[in-house]
Amino acid sequence: MTARIVVLASGNGSNLQALLDASADGRLNANIVAVVSNNAEAFAHTRAANSGVPSLSVTKLPGETREQYDTRLSEAVAAFEPRFVVLAGWMRILTMAFLSTFPNQVINLHPALPGEFPGTHAIERALAEHKQSGLARTGVMVHYVPDERVDEGDVIASIEVPITSLDSLETLEARVHAAEHALLVHALQQLTQGHVRNTPAAPDQ
Ligand code: GAR
Repeated sequence: MTARIVVLASGNGSNLQALLDASADGRLNANIVAVVSNNAEAFAHTRAANSGVPSLSVTKLPGETREQYDTRLSEAVAAFEPRFVVLAGWMRILTMAFLSTFPNQVINLHPALPGEFPGTHAIERALAEHKQSGLARTGVMVHYVPDERVDEGDVIASIEVPITSLDSLETLEARVHAAEHALLVHALQQLTQGHVRNTPAAPDQ
């Protein structure tokens, strides 16, 4: 069965584009059924429109709590009946008001290896660490989002990306983004084909 995917994106949407392309050319047996953004200006809307995919903005209202916002967001996303909700450059921390609606279904992409550089500016911080103490690689991971921890959860796929002394932020960003585009498609291929367990393991007793 073709998996229904809703993508949440806050900005440029190059990873959304990788999923749209893979879905369109048959590499990914999935339908991107909607794109939802917290940012009305996000270029992700344009990418969705160019592919004929509906997109909507759910922006936080003045005075609204995080939980109230996430409840509204979850209702908007649930209307598309997704099998997976993919956070592709989604730059808001989701509360359980959202996450409990989609257990084992929310998947995040982060431009660093598991346990390294959570949060924003992960690539910049990896380059700073290279300059300071010779860090020779960073990476990319795709993982489940079980709770409010930032960029943490059972890892579905990860890949290392080398850092060299010739790198500028621009060159390292380009290498990391290329790795992200490939890894995100790979992870969704695995999940939709059932090649990896598609529910997180139970925690150790
Ligand atoms: C990507 O590098 C993604 O991994 C990162 O935001 C960028 C979005 O790019 N996400 C995070 O840092 C999450 N903590 P895009 O809008 O071009 O896909």
